[in-house]
Amino acid sequence: MIAIILGFFILTCSASKRDVVSLYGSLDTLRTDLGACSNYPDVVDGYRNAMHNFTIETYKRVAPRGTYQFVVSPHSLWMTVAAIAEGANHETQQQLFQLLLLPNDACIRQKYYQLAASRFSYSSDAIVVSNRALVIDHGVTPNPAWHNFVTKNSLIEVVSAPIRHNPVAAASSIRQAVYANYVPLNLQGNSVLIDTMDYNGLWNTAFADAVVQRAPFHSISGQRIGTVDMMTVKRRCKIGYVPSISAKILELPIGTNSQYSMVIALVVGNSDVRPVIREFKSSIVTDVLTSLRDSYVPIDIALPQFTLNSEVDVKVILEDLGITSLWTDPDATRYISTPPALPSSYVQRATLTLNKHGVNPPLVPGLRSSGYPKTPEESFWNEFIADRPFMFGLFDTETYTCLMSNMYSQPTYPDFI
Ligand SMILES: *[C@@H]1O[C@H](CO)[C@@H](O)[C@H](O)[C@H]1NC(C)=O
Repeated sequence: MIAIILGFFILTCSASKRDVVSLYGSLDTLRTDLGACSNYPDVVDGYRNAMHNFTIETYKRVAPRGTYQFVVSPHSLWMTVAAIAEGANHETQQQLFQLLLLPNDACIRQKYYQLAASRFSYSSDAIVVSNRALVIDHGVTPNPAWHNFVTKNSLIEVVSAPIRHNPVAAASSIRQAVYANYVPLNLQGNSVLIDTMDYNGLWNTAFADAVVQRAPFHSISGQRIGTVDMMTVKRRCKIGYVPSISAKILELPIGTNSQYSMVIALVVGNSDVRPVIREFKSSIVTDVLTSLRDSYVPIDIALPQFTLNSEVDVKVILEDLGITSLWTDPDATRYISTPPALPSSYVQRATLTLNKHGVNPPLVPGLRSSGYPKTPEESFWNEFIADRPFMFGLFDTETYTCLMSNMYSQPTYPDFI
């Protein structure tokens, strides 16, 4: 863990001069002392509800901004925005609490933060890492009380860069820190928010025996639009169907102790997903998860290999969600720093790779497709062929926090017509 955080900043420092970005404090997961809050009841349901709500609210707004192919980490966004909320003036704080479904009770909030901060993993078979930082100009000093709180709760780090004095160097170190190249960085203010989320699974046994073959990929309407490197395996796992989105659901456990899982929703039939996503309610996450049943038979699974890498202009997404004072009103962030941090950009970069060395459902050795023809009903439950657009989420299996929400719709090798 220390190595990862250090890596983040060594990288930052090597950008140009050593002092371009310096660290004020480092996050130490679960350092929170909740002594005074120890008698609080279980807050997992409230926390999960807050996360699912924010996951869907952001998904609906990120999806239509591109080609419906993206990865975004609602979890990392939520933690970053929570850090800002903790130092906001009353009005902005209430607005942000409402967006994040954070209660006014500080003990409950800290319990939520503790749950959120313990979703990461640095184990040998699944690495889920997020870095979140408020980058402030050299002349801006963080308020010690706020800084102590957000550090204790592992919400965000505060780093500094010569935003006013040397915006070119500052921009270049910020880009290097998040490995982001494309999102326009506005440095007109005195600070910038950045966060990253990376998923690296050692997908050791799951697709180790997968057959990878070039296969066609289709649009929602069933038209061939290109080809992908399709991994095919036969596995017993959980499968379901959610009528409200006409989607077949598959859950693939990840890691040796199934600490995470990939839940995939494949739209069947010719329904256009775009209006469906517009109408999403947060209950869709529960609908999807509760639809899952152990499969009676091993399922023929076909999934493309891919890497998704997205850089999201979060400022635009938050503005869409009605959060505007953060960027325009210095009073909004008055308890964060002196002078108040007035962020002019917020960028998130998230990356997820799905390939043959991947997920980890129990191995069912020596299975072959049965020789006799299947009825349509049988093949519906026996197959999960992701050869058309699909949505998926990376969840931890303890709280079902959505760490990454995604959509795949653009084949690796598009057809040129
Ligand atoms: C999120 O929660 C708020 C407040 O309860 C609610 O108004 C909103 O509809 C929810 N969003 C979704 C996508 O369900």
